[in-house]
Amino acid sequence: MTPTREHWTSKLGFVSAAAGSAVGLGNIWRFPYVTGENGGAAFLLIYLAIVFSIGLSVLIAELIIGRSAQLNPAGAFKKLAGGAWPAVGYMGVITAFLILSFYCVIAGWTLAYMVKSVTGSVLLNDAAQGGATFSAFISNPVEPVVYTAIFIALSILVVLGGVANGIERASRYLMPALFVILLVLLARSITLEGAYAGLVFFLQPDFSKVTWGTLLAALGQAFFSLSLGMGTMITYGSYLQRRQSIGGSAVAVATLDTLVAVLAGLVILPAVFAFGAAPSAGPGLTFITLPSVFAQMPVGAFFAVLFFFLLAIAALTSVVSLLEVVIAYFIDETGGSRTKVAALVGALVFLIAVPSSLSLGVWSEYTIAGKGFFDALDFLTNNITMPLGGLLVALFAGWVLRREALLELAEGSSMNRTVIGAWYVIIRFLAPVAIAVILVSGLV
Ligand code: PFF
Repeated sequence: MTPTREHWTSKLGFVSAAAGSAVGLGNIWRFPYVTGENGGAAFLLIYLAIVFSIGLSVLIAELIIGRSAQLNPAGAFKKLAGGAWPAVGYMGVITAFLILSFYCVIAGWTLAYMVKSVTGSVLLNDAAQGGATFSAFISNPVEPVVYTAIFIALSILVVLGGVANGIERASRYLMPALFVILLVLLARSITLEGAYAGLVFFLQPDFSKVTWGTLLAALGQAFFSLSLGMGTMITYGSYLQRRQSIGGSAVAVATLDTLVAVLAGLVILPAVFAFGAAPSAGPGLTFITLPSVFAQMPVGAFFAVLFFFLLAIAALTSVVSLLEVVIAYFIDETGGSRTKVAALVGALVFLIAVPSSLSLGVWSEYTIAGKGFFDALDFLTNNITMPLGGLLVALFAGWVLRREALLELAEGSSMNRTVIGAWYVIIRFLAPVAIAVILVSGLV
């Protein structure tokens, strides 16, 4: 154990930071469109069931591993078991790095759209025109790269402040701000004329639309949204003091994360229906459909700026957590100073984000397995390394740590035995089987 390891200052501080990691583009950009594509309310119910069974259990497992080892993911597996297990940690560090390369690009777009909403240049009344503007922007070789660089620099500034003064403090201010903005947008959205159809779509389930694919989409979304499978929660867990409890905090994080996703759905889908746009527009929902909705709304420019600011905040605290996985690894393993390591990691992330951004434009002809760089990284991380990481974490906690994991979970916590027992059953049996299924079908 590094004797000088920093810790969260309180339970609230940890919950803010972990919720900051979980709440991100996944909740506000991805969740509403994935729900839209998968038929609405039925998907929502399945998603909730998965988050509070498998998702919560894997989250607890990652926190247990981190808190007990007090080390980055690779160091943690080395310390707790050795053998081939540290490979899971290395895979996590690499996955975090790869996710950063495209997540920072999308995060850069949110900054750009915030600026462009001020000038009104993206608030076009027509979705086709909005689509053309969006394509022209993301394929531009310079502008999105500049915004990505600004975003990475902002995140590095937070990380430089350290665990308590940087990450925890930023999350404590930004998370409540995010909630307030969401509530303002919610009030606007559900009072629009015609918003009701969106509420029905989001809240009235139609199970005839559920397919095998719906389950897979829900499980994948749950993992991404809760920041699982790449060591983020192991890293954040490693900054917990042993007496800080895990169970209650994990429930709080999963609840906040889900609340924000549901609120984002309640903001976006009613607005989409009110203006007759298609809920199944896919990834373009946020950057193409919504701006056209804002353009038709009274004082739409104001709400657009607020919305993209919200997205940027959410993305910032998530990027910070991904950076921290890589940075914690290098600090623990090399003993380097946080400043040096953070500067180096920031530069490396920028270097790999550039091809990610360019692959949507001037470098689109270079492909890996038929996909552009951006899409290839997205596919590799979401469909392979994240579920695989989650599967191995579940197996590790349930079959390698076993009793040790149970004792660790009980420590500092007032959880009753039935709940702890339920966690154990899920982590040993349900989670590995369910995740193995998505992994296989994701590949097939
Ligand atoms: N949970 C974040 C989101 O929903 O946007 C994304 C994310 C952050 C994934 C951190 C993984 C991670 F380690």
